[in-house]
Amino acid sequence: MNMGIYYFSGSGNSLHVARELQKGLPQTTLIPLVSLLNQPSVVTTGDAVGFVFPQHGWQMPVMVDEILQKFELHSASYIFAVATRGGTPCRAFLEMEKTLNRKGRNLDAYFVLTMPGSTQSLIKTFHEKINEERIARLETEMLTRLKEIVRIIRSREAYHDENLDGVDMPPVNHFMEPLVLSLARLAESNFIFYSDAKCKGCGICEKVCLAEKIKLVEDHPIWQKNVKCLNCFSCLNYCPEMAVQLKSSWYFKSYTPQNGRYHHSQITADDIAGQKISPDPVSG
Ligand SMILES: Cc1cc2nc3c(=O)[nH]c(=O)nc-3n(C[C@H](O)[C@H](O)[C@H](O)COP(=O)(O)O)c2cc1C
Ligand code: SF4
Ligand code: SF4
Repeated sequence: MNMGIYYFSGSGNSLHVARELQKGLPQTTLIPLVSLLNQPSVVTTGDAVGFVFPQHGWQMPVMVDEILQKFELHSASYIFAVATRGGTPCRAFLEMEKTLNRKGRNLDAYFVLTMPGSTQSLIKTFHEKINEERIARLETEMLTRLKEIVRIIRSREAYHDENLDGVDMPPVNHFMEPLVLSLARLAESNFIFYSDAKCKGCGICEKVCLAEKIKLVEDHPIWQKNVKCLNCFSCLNYCPEMAVQLKSSWYFKSYTPQNGRYHHSQITADDIAGQKISPDPVSG
C-alpha cells in the first residue's frame, strides 16, 4: 500500500498542501510534475495516486493537462485531485475527468482549497487580498479542511467537492463560461515578464524558473522567447527585490510595479527549484 502525490507549484501553495497531505498519509511519495516534463510516459506504481496543482484561468494548468495525458494509471485503485485557487470558480476537475475518461478512468475524489492568490500582485486591490490577517485566516481554514481531506483519502472514500463556485463572487452565466475559459487561456499564453532597475543580478529568478525560460546574461535575466512559459509566476513572486514585472497589455493593466508579492511563507526558492529534480527512486 503506497501512494504517489504528483504536484506542481509556483508560489508554494500547492507544495505546502502536498507536504501537509504527506504528513497525514503514510507511505506517500511526493513527485514534482515538472521533473516528468520530458518523459514520454509516466507509469504509476502506487495503489493510490493524487494530483495537487494550482488553478490557472479556472482550469488545470496547461502543463498539468499535457503531462496527465502521458500517465498510465493501472496500479491505482484510487485517484484524487486537490486544486488550490485564489477564489474564482473552479472548472479544473471537469477537464481532468475528460482526460481520465479517455483512459477509462475517473476521479474518485476531488477537493478545492482557497489560498492567497499568486497573481494578486497584478491587480489594484492587492493590499486588500494579500495582508497578514487574511493570509493567516486562509491558512487556518485550509489546515482545518485538510484534516477532513486526509480522513477521506485514508479511507479511500468517493468525494466530489461541491464548493466549486467563486468565493465572494456572483454566480457565473453558464453561456458566458466557455468564453471566459478561452479568454483566460489566451491571456496566459501572452504574459510578458521583464526586470526593472531594482534587479541586482542575484539569479534567483533563473533558479526558480520551472520552464528554464530565464537565463542570466551579464547579471540580467532574459526571458527566452523560444521557451514556453509554464505561467507558474515563481520569477515574479520569488525575486527578493520585487524587480520582476508583468507587462500591461491591451486587455489588462498590470499593477506589479506598485504592489508587493506573495509566496507561501514555508516554501523557499530552493523548494520551488527542487521541482526540476526527480525524487530518487521515483515511486508512486
Ligand atoms: C497564471 C495563473 C492563473 C491563475 N488563475 C486563477 C484562477 O483562474 N482562479 C483562481 O482562483 N486562482 C487563480 N490563480 C491563483 C492560484 O490558483 C492560487 O494562488 C494557487 O494557490 C497558487 O498555487 P501555487 O503556489 O502552488 O502555484 C492563478 C495563478 C496563476 C499563476
Ligand atoms: S531574482 Fe530579481 S534581483 Fe535577482 S536576478 Fe532575477 S530579477 Fe534580478
Ligand atoms: S518565466 Fe516565470 S512564470 Fe514563466 S515558467 Fe519561468 S518562472 Fe514560471
